[in-house]
Amino acid sequence: MTTAAGRMHSAARADVLDVERVRADFPALHQTVHGQPLVYLDNAATTQKPRQVIEALDRYYRSDNANVHRGVHALSERATAAYEAAREKVREFLNAQSAQEIVFVRGTTEAINLVAQSWGRTNLRPDDEVVITETEHHSNIVPWQMLCGQTGAQLRVVPVEDNGVLSAERYAQILGRRTRLVAVAHCSNALGTINPVKRMISQAHEVGALVMVDGAQAVAHLSVDVRDLDCDFYAFSGHKLYGPTGIGVLYAKRALLQEMPPYQGGGEMVKHVSFDRTSYLDPPLRFEAGTPDIAGAIGLGAAIDYVDALGSEAIGRHERELLMQATAAISRIPGLRIIGTAPEKTGILSFVLDGVHAHDVGTILDMQGVAVRVGHHCAMPVMQRYGVPATARASFALYNTREEVDALVAGIYRAKEVFG
Ligand code: ALA
Repeated sequence: MTTAAGRMHSAARADVLDVERVRADFPALHQTVHGQPLVYLDNAATTQKPRQVIEALDRYYRSDNANVHRGVHALSERATAAYEAAREKVREFLNAQSAQEIVFVRGTTEAINLVAQSWGRTNLRPDDEVVITETEHHSNIVPWQMLCGQTGAQLRVVPVEDNGVLSAERYAQILGRRTRLVAVAHCSNALGTINPVKRMISQAHEVGALVMVDGAQAVAHLSVDVRDLDCDFYAFSGHKLYGPTGIGVLYAKRALLQEMPPYQGGGEMVKHVSFDRTSYLDPPLRFEAGTPDIAGAIGLGAAIDYVDALGSEAIGRHERELLMQATAAISRIPGLRIIGTAPEKTGILSFVLDGVHAHDVGTILDMQGVAVRVGHHCAMPVMQRYGVPATARASFALYNTREEVDALVAGIYRAKEVFG
């Protein structure tokens, strides 16, 4: 196995999650909603935060708050050291070769836009092709459409089979000498499918294309090793990994980042400025114009420490058990159809109920304290593919329990009773 050494150690530390102990770390879980205990199953949209993350933010603002990379005073030095230590934690988390390959951004969406506008506008020519898939989130569709509009490149789309698995045959056919970039989700946010990205990357490299992986739905659930995957770009958001909102990461191979022009101009990203000519810093700071989200990066570092201490093996096993329990139970509900039945899935369960709109399912569940997401999940093309306007989606995290799965199932039966 080629996972990062640090992560193997942490996985070995905890074979089984002590869920009750974990839950004690998450203050927001301990509340009632509409008079019922909260059952939070909207983790694919955003996760709740452990006190370790909340305390890291609190500590930073109470004692270290200063701008980074500019001051000579003690607070600025402390803030800079903490910000750069967070970058190193992300490097280790992804097993990147160098911290210079880690760019802090607002989230996955900004990371993808950065690659499209910096690498894409520099390198794409008319008739080049960008390959995406039918299951992508809008954030991995729209930036590439915009780029194609700007450069004359063409967008190609890999279709998905009925069970939510990408068509390997069509992918192999679509790849060709015109392919310059493949952009694919590691895990689908609407279906839960874990895509075979390692194989897809090696196939893309064979035709000379680069690959950008959208890891937003993966990093909280799987061990990710960018060197083992050999991806060229990898993006994720802190808030889906128990960290703060407004902070995310773009990993890019160093040689690519070195050649890429800045995405935004401003302070913190320049070596020298005059009215005739401006020169830029090396990556990653070249891509971090303006005051960054310092507290966010520090909070993300605390979130990485938190999940590393539990171990991705134990987290993944726990979430798979919840998914299996939930899948078995809701499959028995008459008139319910699961959208996304791939053999390899993260803890995402999308479904539709005959004769009941997904929003009504969500409202009835909410009245019972159960939070799920309803709608198109920012993935309208995949909803069209399955011929549904919307689904209800339960998504599991490390703090969810078997009893919460029971509450979800009871809630769906209640929705059937009310609307049936
Ligand atoms: N992309 C997030 C989701 O799937 C917001 O819910």
